[in-house]
Amino acid sequence: MKSLTMDKPDERNRLDAMKQGVIGKPLDRPDGPIKVSGVAPYAAEYDIANAAYGVFVTAPIARGKVAKIHEDSVTGMDGVIAVVADERFTTRAAQGTAGEAPEQGPGEVDYWGQPIALVVAESYEAARDAAQRLKVDFHADDLADIPFDPDAVEPEKDEGQRQGDLAHAMAEAVHSVDRTYTTHGHASAAMEPHASIAEWQDGKLTVHASLQMLNFNIAELADALDLEEDDVRLVSRFVGGGFGSKLGVSQDVVAAAIAAKQVGRPVKVAMTRQHVFQAIMRRSESTQRLRLAADAEGRLTGFGHEALVSNLPGEDFAEPVTQSSKFLYGGENRLLRIDVARIHRMCAGSVRAPGEAVGMTALEAAMDELAEQVGIDPVELRLRNIPDKHPTKDIPYSSRKLAECLKEGAAAFGWQGEDRKPRQRREGEWWIGTGVASGSRVHNVEEAKARVTLRPGGTALVETDMTDIGTGTYAILGQIAGEMLGLDPKDVEVGLGDTDFPRGPGSGGSWGAPSSGSAVFLACEALREEIASLLKGEEGNLTMKDGTAVVGNTSRTIDELLGGKELQRTGHFQPGKTEKEFAAASYGAFFAEVAVNDWTGETRVRRLTGAFGIGRVLNEKTARSQCLGGMTWAIGAALTEQLLFDPRDGHLVNCDLAEYHVPVHRDVPECEVLLVEERDPAASPIQAKGVGELSMCGAAGAIANAVYNACGVRAYSFPMTPAVLL
Ligand code: MOS
Repeated sequence: MKSLTMDKPDERNRLDAMKQGVIGKPLDRPDGPIKVSGVAPYAAEYDIANAAYGVFVTAPIARGKVAKIHEDSVTGMDGVIAVVADERFTTRAAQGTAGEAPEQGPGEVDYWGQPIALVVAESYEAARDAAQRLKVDFHADDLADIPFDPDAVEPEKDEGQRQGDLAHAMAEAVHSVDRTYTTHGHASAAMEPHASIAEWQDGKLTVHASLQMLNFNIAELADALDLEEDDVRLVSRFVGGGFGSKLGVSQDVVAAAIAAKQVGRPVKVAMTRQHVFQAIMRRSESTQRLRLAADAEGRLTGFGHEALVSNLPGEDFAEPVTQSSKFLYGGENRLLRIDVARIHRMCAGSVRAPGEAVGMTALEAAMDELAEQVGIDPVELRLRNIPDKHPTKDIPYSSRKLAECLKEGAAAFGWQGEDRKPRQRREGEWWIGTGVASGSRVHNVEEAKARVTLRPGGTALVETDMTDIGTGTYAILGQIAGEMLGLDPKDVEVGLGDTDFPRGPGSGGSWGAPSSGSAVFLACEALREEIASLLKGEEGNLTMKDGTAVVGNTSRTIDELLGGKELQRTGHFQPGKTEKEFAAASYGAFFAEVAVNDWTGETRVRRLTGAFGIGRVLNEKTARSQCLGGMTWAIGAALTEQLLFDPRDGHLVNCDLAEYHVPVHRDVPECEVLLVEERDPAASPIQAKGVGELSMCGAAGAIANAVYNACGVRAYSFPMTPAVLL
């Protein structure tokens, strides 16, 4: 095993030194054809012999208790095998919230749609029928705290930022903005609903499930069921999107495992779209106050970002709205904080770029107002406010391409920053306008292991329990191994999503590629060291190409060197001090052109350009696709996506993809993505940073600023539905 703990920036730039031309190349995903042809199995599609079907019964109250489950109301029905109710999946303990599970009394219900039982039957139809007929008595508590009980607001444990005197800076400022924005809650809305098939054999549990972070999920599941991790195997080879909703184990995983044990045969639980919306985590709604104080030139002297978000009582997670506000722009006098209201809606957690997705929207809308007051190009305002040093901490920034993104994005878009007066351009009944925003998202890395095997005949195998949630992991890990070992990526087989493989970091927080990629890199480096030593040379002088290894004048085929045997090494990457000693983030800039209908208030995004600095690009095509995906999400956050709750009983009203509108092709114009050349040696040994979430962070602000430029209406509430704009 070759281990590396990253305690200082890694300047070696080894991937560039390989000069194979494999890394970065816009290769197709190897998993693409089997996915689009329906051959790749998703969680519910594994054919497991003798599986029974489980369907959830959920609570029709937002707060109260289950008084009695009348099992006999369905047990006589055709095909019904059992009614399973168990605290381990009916309470929040079954929902991986990354923290300690909060205390919940027996039978306690604290959100509408909480699973309270699983009906198991011979067929899905029989289980669904019985689930609808199961008689359950509830004690319902009143809903006085929906939506917010002001007394139930707690400060977040995170200290935020407090520096200088913001109120004084605001009072003294030549220009100032003090605005409050609200954003609605979001659903992850991954295409593949959560599903699990659990099977017990000789006391060992295997679950095929749809999960993002197997390394973490196996610990959660073992903990929930009081098992050793060695007795559990999780398989998630293909995942139809996660977007945060599959970071933790979901109720289907735990319920399927418990039910399979109880009925003595495999059990499949595929949640309905409605159950996913109702019971899986949401992004909290937010109320955000932005205060910007500036001098005559628009340089920030004060910066305030305060947010109120919500979660269930006892939950640790608070939408980290101010995450990038801590370092993106300057301003001596600062006040950043997050308060959490305790409310009875489904658990709030990480959804598609938690924090910046909504925080950057409000911040960038406020920056647009400041630029207007100062009377300068909003691109120039942002350039002026890129700080030389971190506003509150004595740490340097790692590579930061914000200025390049703003400039190159502006050039590509054809940005005109002068004379930004609104309501100047009209086409028929549509007002046309443009807007800009910065993009920023913190960079994370996590511990990762990967095993790489050189095989006779000149092929390689990469194995890790890292997942591919549609992001391109299968492609990039093959490319890293191909680059290091001199192989065509077609000759590198990649095995993912199985806890029998070395543990990876999972897909979350955009850390998947830099972390798992670094583990593969280290494993390959160890292989190269072994090959070099067989040639009595140094790894640094080794060239591997087309199945041949060369050091100086000595050249051997790899088969010759290995004597027909396999050579296997494991790479182990760990984040170290570097993570704390640098402010590392991915940066970008967004430019939007919109049309707003004068009569209906309908907004159409006509053009969207994003420029991104994400460190090394591992595959230009998959990186670009990630960016297009994030920009598409931003169109949703800007215009259509909102969780709507009925104030009478706390139920989620729009719990399907028709009523909760994620942008479809018709909503998404031709988008342009620029990837700015960058290496970030402090970010990861392969000098790559996070990509996926960045492209959502700020783009909705650019759309809001374009809406103002088009029709003269500033939106303070998101999404900007016609009701908001008219
Ligand atoms: Mo992400 S919302 O950390 O999957």
